[in-house]
Amino acid sequence: MPIRNHMEKIIIIDFGSQVTKLIARRVRELGVFSEILTIKDIKKIKDYKQIKGIILSGGPSTVTKIEYSNIPKDIYFKKIPILGICYGLQLIAKEFQGSIGSFKKKREFGRAKLFQKKRSLLTKDLFNKKYKSVWMSHQDAVTKLPKGFKIVASTKESKLTIIEDQERKIYGVQFHPEVTHTENGNIIFKNFLFSICKIKKKWKINSEKNRLINDIKKIVKNDKVICALSGGVDSSVVALLINKAIKKNLICIMVDTGLMRKNEFKSSYNIFKKKYKLNVRLINASKLYFNKLRNIQDPEKKRKIIGNLFIKIFEKEAYKFKNIKFLAQGTLYPDIIESRSATGSITSKIKSHHNVGGLPKKMNLKLIEPLKEFFKDEVRILGKSLGLVNSIRNKHPFPGPGLAIRIIGKVTPQKTKILQDADHIFVSELVKHNLYNKIWQAYAGLLPMKTVGVMGDSRTYEYTCLLRAVISEDGMTADYFNFPKDFLDEISNKIVNGVPGINRVVYDITSKPPSTIELE
Ligand code: XMP
Repeated sequence: MPIRNHMEKIIIIDFGSQVTKLIARRVRELGVFSEILTIKDIKKIKDYKQIKGIILSGGPSTVTKIEYSNIPKDIYFKKIPILGICYGLQLIAKEFQGSIGSFKKKREFGRAKLFQKKRSLLTKDLFNKKYKSVWMSHQDAVTKLPKGFKIVASTKESKLTIIEDQERKIYGVQFHPEVTHTENGNIIFKNFLFSICKIKKKWKINSEKNRLINDIKKIVKNDKVICALSGGVDSSVVALLINKAIKKNLICIMVDTGLMRKNEFKSSYNIFKKKYKLNVRLINASKLYFNKLRNIQDPEKKRKIIGNLFIKIFEKEAYKFKNIKFLAQGTLYPDIIESRSATGSITSKIKSHHNVGGLPKKMNLKLIEPLKEFFKDEVRILGKSLGLVNSIRNKHPFPGPGLAIRIIGKVTPQKTKILQDADHIFVSELVKHNLYNKIWQAYAGLLPMKTVGVMGDSRTYEYTCLLRAVISEDGMTADYFNFPKDFLDEISNKIVNGVPGINRVVYDITSKPPSTIELE
């Protein structure tokens, strides 16, 4: 269901593309509120007043089958502008008696050159040179122009790459303007929003702050809220928001697993306690974690043990407080989108993320998830307006199971200490060289094998430290960061000299896919 009907918006109907989220982000980056809906959601909409435009996403399905995912027909005739992307374009073509065929030998994947055939509101200011480079990912293509439509642009492989029915304000593009590989893709969105849908640029994440605080006040009233605070940006912003709304009635619990980065937990605790004066309880559970993880090598087992233990500890602590009605969580919009399937298919589980799926169910608490409409970048902006310190606001993502999934094989306090020291050097150097904020996520990992080295006149036989640094937009795909050689030289030197137990440093140069960002 649409989350709120409080302002003009663009809705995106999700047909299961991996990059649907990016469409919503592009729209929001242009100052317009957007929501992603499933076909099921859209069938429940009664009032379209606030919906100023509809974007149909791409997806893995094909309209050439007898049964294919489609929106209710009347939506095409509501006089609300529509933009179909990839599968969305093919749906439009099908609806208006075009033909769709499969490319067979000549599927289009990757970059393609887009040439203008006709002027259009959708491509205003796009063709400032002979062609634009766009990102394609399709097997089917529109082979016959649907009724009432005109060709706006073509590639060598597909003539009907952008089509329009100016009268009905229905547009379709075969490529993906939402991905960064498409040159100036945002111009397409800008034109669609402001020239075609004529929606106003009114939405700002900062102006949501007061509404969120008021909503929390209204919901919680004089009851108590409990919150697991990790010191990451999401839970920190949740805690500050709720604290602004209900002050002392917020109880924060920080569980120190011993698997966090060097000094990080203590310093976050001090910030929350002293700077923000939150009611926060610190639980030192590191011994318990190391005991439970003793001799465990399997990554999935590690994740399960850590997740279950966290719930147990949290529950035990929470029971010490009386009359708690609510549990606050830092669930983000991508968590919500990913947990409901657009197409009904169950996407394959690569790794079990322990914090997705929620905290104690047994406790029977009502959930408050104030960030569930927002992307991480938006949460960082919200954090700024709440006065969250930069060291937390700009922190790279950190996985729930912590360093346990960055120590390959058995996890011990000794190995954890070695890794914390190496990671601390790496991250501090990134900050010092102004690289930290250019990278999406960076960390050091500890590989289980020892190798021979030589230091001074002595032979060493120690662990290998793996460095990982990636650029990404949402963690779904990632590229390794291209460090200058001097930086790599310096970092290798500092780690080997500064961390007893490590005599070799390697840099991971795999992207995701085929690799993942974390090691386990
Ligand atoms: P992968 O390794 O799947 O990671 O490419 C993608 C992003 O997810 C983070 N990650 C986790 N985050 N709990 C979390 O909160 C987890 O169990 C978990 N596992 C991976 C990872 O750090 C990266 O940002």
